[in-house]
Amino acid sequence: MQSKLPNVGTTIFTKMALLAKKHSAINLAQGFPEFGMPEFLQERLAAHTKLGRNQYAPSPGLPILQEQIAALVERCYQNTVNPSESVTITSGATEALFVAIQAFVEQGDEVIVFDPAYDSYAPAIKLAGGKSIHIALRSPNFKIDWDEVRSKVSKKTSVIMLNTPHNPCGSVIDENDLKELKDIVLKNGLILISDEVYEHIIFDNKKHLSINTDPELFEHSVVLSSFGKTFHCTGWKMGYCVAPKELTTEFRKVHQFVTFSSFTPAQFALAEMLEQYPEHISALGAFYQDKRDVLVNALQTTSFKPLPCYGSYFLNVDYSAVSDKNDIEFSEILTEEFGVATIPISVFYDKAPNDKILRLCFAKNENTLLQATEKLAQL
Ligand SMILES: Cc1ncc(COP(=O)(O)O)c(C=O)c1O
Repeated sequence: MQSKLPNVGTTIFTKMALLAKKHSAINLAQGFPEFGMPEFLQERLAAHTKLGRNQYAPSPGLPILQEQIAALVERCYQNTVNPSESVTITSGATEALFVAIQAFVEQGDEVIVFDPAYDSYAPAIKLAGGKSIHIALRSPNFKIDWDEVRSKVSKKTSVIMLNTPHNPCGSVIDENDLKELKDIVLKNGLILISDEVYEHIIFDNKKHLSINTDPELFEHSVVLSSFGKTFHCTGWKMGYCVAPKELTTEFRKVHQFVTFSSFTPAQFALAEMLEQYPEHISALGAFYQDKRDVLVNALQTTSFKPLPCYGSYFLNVDYSAVSDKNDIEFSEILTEEFGVATIPISVFYDKAPNDKILRLCFAKNENTLLQATEKLAQL
């Protein structure tokens, strides 16, 4: 049998988690919060399960949750969408990404992917019969070179994958990026898949430039998000897709055959959370900015140099002052000998530059971040 994904093996996340466990290292590798989720959500999940809301939800999602998401999109980005026609609940953003790619990428299509990229994009594109056209973003700012994008768009290009705020770069798009992106998408008749799972985790008074803010570009886009990031419940695997009616129709054709529908009691609980605690979302940026600042300040006592981070819960550090080993080797040494697990960012590239950069997750308690930096200070 020939593998459909011959180059896919055990991911670095699994590898690093195992290595961290084996060496009792502090795990700043995997991107999940160390702290609990809002109690209200936990209670409502239990309540709805007890109330017997345990059967299939409608495939596009529960209307009350679709309505709350439409209200959120209106409040945050002034985009008015019809909840039943434009909002689809998915089993995490990973499902939404997979579905969107299967829905819009045909055999032989080319898809623009900015590296470093979330690891599910390229395999999903390959399974759809498409070809990823990788464009490497360069440290320390990881800005998109729009002339390079124009030079790589061809007659075969059908989709651009965007991620803002960006994992693992911590970068965000600005007004000029949005303008350039719009120009390219509209002129070439492309579809934009916009991965905005960290939409509410943005710092330094920057505004998240969601594709929802641009009515014309939105008409050609699907915007994906994740409740896992927003409500500290990555294990719930709950996400959603907001898109114009025509694209939503195609998206749902695939979604119904991937999962049909997503976890019913969680949909009830999330709808109530969104309605009753809007302040959770408005406070999320400040909550994570404090954590970023704790880590950045503590790193001043080490030889690791933090790179700019404007959003997401990841901070990249340049370790070139400490070692000239490549990032994979160095991350293993850090875990095994110094007790801190991180992710080498070369794994997010198709062709990695020879950077000396590691990704640190700061969705952790202050103590964990301080203990980790104490260990890093030994180098
Ligand atoms: C950029 C990006 N997109 C998508 C996802 C997937 O989100 P979910 O856990 O909701 O599937 C993640 C999770 O780490 C991510 O970092």
